[in-house]
Amino acid sequence: MLENSKIIAVTSGKGGTGKSTICSGLGYTLAKQGHRTLIIELDFGLRCLDIMFGVQDKIEHDLSDVLNGKMSALDACSKVEMASNLNLLCAPKTLTPVTAEQIFDICRSVKKYYDYIIIDTGAGINSHVFDIVEQANLILVVSTPDQVCIRDASLMSDEFYNRGNKSQRLIINKVNKKVIGNSLVKNLDEIIDKVGVQLIGVIPEDFKLTVATAKGDPIPTDSEALLAFDAISKRLDGDFVPLTIKGA
Ligand SMILES: Nc1ncnc2c1ncn2[C@@H]1O[C@H](COP(=O)(O)OP(=O)(O)OP(=O)(O)O)[C@@H](O)[C@H]1O
Ligand SMILES: [Mg+2]
Repeated sequence: MLENSKIIAVTSGKGGTGKSTICSGLGYTLAKQGHRTLIIELDFGLRCLDIMFGVQDKIEHDLSDVLNGKMSALDACSKVEMASNLNLLCAPKTLTPVTAEQIFDICRSVKKYYDYIIIDTGAGINSHVFDIVEQANLILVVSTPDQVCIRDASLMSDEFYNRGNKSQRLIINKVNKKVIGNSLVKNLDEIIDKVGVQLIGVIPEDFKLTVATAKGDPIPTDSEALLAFDAISKRLDGDFVPLTIKGA
């Protein structure tokens, strides 16, 4: 374990649940709340956070420069202009060999400069991802209200428990009134029970969020998803913020 640091891994069983969107949203709100925040993107060959933050033309370095020994992790981080305190260490554009130990070394080398390090595990699950994720201080398991996604989140979470990693919280993403309360999913409790992980937040399906991340704009202040990210960030920091599900 990497002690005394807030290293948060965002992961899911199924792909496309919103991991990268959540990393960008939480990174943005944590930074806006004054926390020095770094997002490390592990989606090797398929980076996307540069676009979500609108900095794709400004990224000069990425993880491959660190893995190839060209520069330190701190030097390879890029500033994200939409929030002071927010930095991004992009995934390489090509598939670059990496070990879990190399990722821990990177976290160790930068952790004194950041209050939070958020790791976006990217698409696809393999033992390598498990090795990386289980070193985090907290695992955020992301599920949508979709039954396949719920089962995959449950399997994923069980595997972490079996490996001794009990520090997990659930984020239910893309929650939509039309899905909750009908025959697809009875209520949010059903999802929590099936996944078997304590809830930390619910993020509504929000078209304003989709547009903002697609255009690389800050999430607008009237976005319901922004309220959810803000609340989850405060809960991560130990504050009590009651769960209200706007738009859900
Ligand atoms: N709360 C939300 N409301 C509306 N759209 C969302 C929400 N969360 C994610 N999306 C959309 O869902 C799509 C997938 O999101 P994202 O790329 O973040 O998923 P991912 O889990 O990182 O995918 P991958 O497994 O490929 O890495 C994107 O188009 C994104 O805009
Ligand atoms: Mg992703």
